[in-house]
Amino acid sequence: KLTKYFDGFHALENLDLAVGLGSIWAIIGPNGAGKSTLFNLISGLLNPSKGEMYFKGVKLNGMKPNQRTALGIALTFQNLRLFPKMTVLENLLVGQNCRIKASLGKVLFRLPFRPLSEEKRAQVFVQKVLEFVGLLTRKDELVSNLSYGDQKLVALARALATDPEIILLDEPSAGLNSQETSDLNRLLKTIVENGKTICFIEHDMNMVMEISDMITVLNFGVKIAEGPPSIIKGNLKVIEAYLGTEE
Ligand SMILES: Nc1ncnc2c1ncn2[C@@H]1O[C@H](COP(=O)(O)OP(=O)(O)OP(=O)(O)O)[C@@H](O)[C@H]1O
Ligand SMILES: [Mg+2]
Repeated sequence: KLTKYFDGFHALENLDLAVGLGSIWAIIGPNGAGKSTLFNLISGLLNPSKGEMYFKGVKLNGMKPNQRTALGIALTFQNLRLFPKMTVLENLLVGQNCRIKASLGKVLFRLPFRPLSEEKRAQVFVQKVLEFVGLLTRKDELVSNLSYGDQKLVALARALATDPEIILLDEPSAGLNSQETSDLNRLLKTIVENGKTICFIEHDMNMVMEISDMITVLNFGVKIAEGPPSIIKGNLKVIEAYLGTEE
């Protein structure tokens, strides 16, 4: 019964949601439906007004964002929030850092009291992640010099660099061209084939219908439908919610 009020405004109300491990789970709904609010609650950037959240039986309420990252929950933001004046590699090492519980300064400035083996491990892991998303050759470039599509890949890679079990992606295909979107679809499917869970917010219905196992539809902070793509496609309430917000 997850609920979030902002000054009496109900951004999310009595939401019951159980994302199955190993699935690709889409959250859809018109602008302002509460989708990003939901991710901010799960990742600990906001506290719920009511309701409880669990990850594999562990209660998340009250845990700090970095504790949730350490548990295996990673998030990418609708507006990316990368460090533009740092390199691709450095952006990922910041992500890795939460998981291995060392301070940012130690990773970036190689202070001597940090065991080298741990740093080496982080470097190797992060490079594997960059290779996976196709950015290894660009690891030393400043993020601000990359195209928007590549910056989105950095954001995905940064989430993967925390070695998560579940990845929350807020509008991963927004701003991508069709080639980039189909590349992304393939990456996401591979991530799930490798045992991870993906929960993503998306407005691109072709993408949602193509890759999702399950879809939850929010409207004005309330769940109005849930099911596999075949069922949701035909759901009239969903279509109405969308017709009301076409831009
Ligand atoms: N920090 C905040 N303070 C006040 N109101 C907020 C805050 N964050 C979100 N809201 C409001 O809560 C509602 C849900 O916002 P949210 O960002 O979750 O929508 P969304 O479904 O992600 O929309 P979009 O598709 O446009 O990204 C909106 O009406 C928004 O204005
Ligand atoms: Mg949003």
